[in-house]
Amino acid sequence: MLSGAEKRSEPVTKYVINGGNPLNGEVEISGAKNAAVAIIPAALMVDGVCRIENLPQISDVTLLLNILKEMGADIRLVNKKTIDIDCTHVGTSTATFSSMRRIRASYYLIGALLGRFGNAHVAMPGGCNFGGVRPIDQHIKGFTAMGAKVNISNGIVSAVTDVRLKGASVYLDVVSVGATINTMLAATLADGMTVIENAAREPHIVDLANFLNSMGADVRGAGTNVIKIRGVKRLRGGFYSIIPDQIEAGTYMAAVAGAGGRVVIRDVIPKHLECITLKLLEMGVSVANNGDNVVVSRSGPLLKTSIKTLPYPGFPTDMQPQMSAVLCLAEGISTVTEGVWDNRFKYVDELTRMGGEIRVSGRTAIIEGVPYLTGATLKAGDLRAGAALVIAGLCAKGTTMVEGVNYIERGYEKMIKKLTTLGADVKSVYFADEQMLTGSSAG
Ligand code: EPU
Repeated sequence: MLSGAEKRSEPVTKYVINGGNPLNGEVEISGAKNAAVAIIPAALMVDGVCRIENLPQISDVTLLLNILKEMGADIRLVNKKTIDIDCTHVGTSTATFSSMRRIRASYYLIGALLGRFGNAHVAMPGGCNFGGVRPIDQHIKGFTAMGAKVNISNGIVSAVTDVRLKGASVYLDVVSVGATINTMLAATLADGMTVIENAAREPHIVDLANFLNSMGADVRGAGTNVIKIRGVKRLRGGFYSIIPDQIEAGTYMAAVAGAGGRVVIRDVIPKHLECITLKLLEMGVSVANNGDNVVVSRSGPLLKTSIKTLPYPGFPTDMQPQMSAVLCLAEGISTVTEGVWDNRFKYVDELTRMGGEIRVSGRTAIIEGVPYLTGATLKAGDLRAGAALVIAGLCAKGTTMVEGVNYIERGYEKMIKKLTTLGADVKSVYFADEQMLTGSSAG
């Protein structure tokens, strides 16, 4: 046994960032994570081959594809961003692999399997835990309204019906992205019409509806708060290209706001970025739309603002940590209020360790701008917190090391490579036994 002094530390990959470089150049935005993780399970309901294009190369996508493969799906890589999925021969409604606990979106398998087989047995989802519980009562409300009996025991959600699911009216008590998507999935092959009221309106909900419709479904109203789904007998194969990632684009916009410079953010839907754009303009950042691109630049001081996160079209909660990191450097006192999750401020302690002046009171962070942040060793506790710490590192004086990069890589494609292309000094470094073994800039 090793003594205390000889004890080895666990090997770990960290992002090492030497802050202070402005960002300049062009960055291409990948396909939307939160659309991809809904569309891949939806492919379970399709007879024939679905070709899905613009898939982001992120670990959440790899994990979901592996789950489908384990269930019997035939998955073929056409190129780096395009796959063919054929679920015709999937013969099981059970998905209880331990890997499923690592991804929140595995709960979409419940809606998809229930739609296809009339029953589903799925391991309870895991994924990012930014504090507090992430309930699924509204998903269950949707399934139950359509006639399923739902039971949770030993970490497995079982949803069963005697016959085909029946279309129903579902009023969601909270605006929930996940419950809207899961109810939509289950309703697609149900008997009759389902109406979801108080539905979420995020771009990825519209994207899922477009995917389903292009495979033969009848979904109307996605993007409004009333979605009507007329059940169809079957879905057939087809082609679909995933929309660009609103949050990845917003993250690079925030990074330029913090670090300064001028970046063309390519292949985006500017409409999805409107409220992020408006906040950045208030903060003294220049943002211009140019077709499928937005051009972000900052040379003057950052100004204070107040942000409240809300369901779409409100300010996205998934941009809250990144904006707080930038506001640490804005003149005056800013406030950031979380309106979606009970608690999403765990990352604040890490920013404080860099010299950020932030106090959290209930659901509001009060941020007093400081002239600079100082590099430190930090731990990402979830995906967007990780992105916020990287942004803080890019803006800070000295060297920042971010641990917990597995969270970041769940949702950001090649972040290190993209930032390096923009002129950032950032590397992904594998540390084994306290010693740096290999360095890579490929993310
Ligand atoms: N809620 C309930 N009951 C439910 C479901 C949700 O009370 O049955 C509550 C939640 O506790 C929360 C609110 O409703 O307070 C909104 O939750 P929602 O269901 O909309 O969140 P989600 O579907 O679990 C998705 C994204 C999250 C994003 C939220 C909000 C995916 C895979 N995840 O989560 O994205 O924060 O919507 O926009 O789409 C991320 O990408 O980093 C991420 C966490």
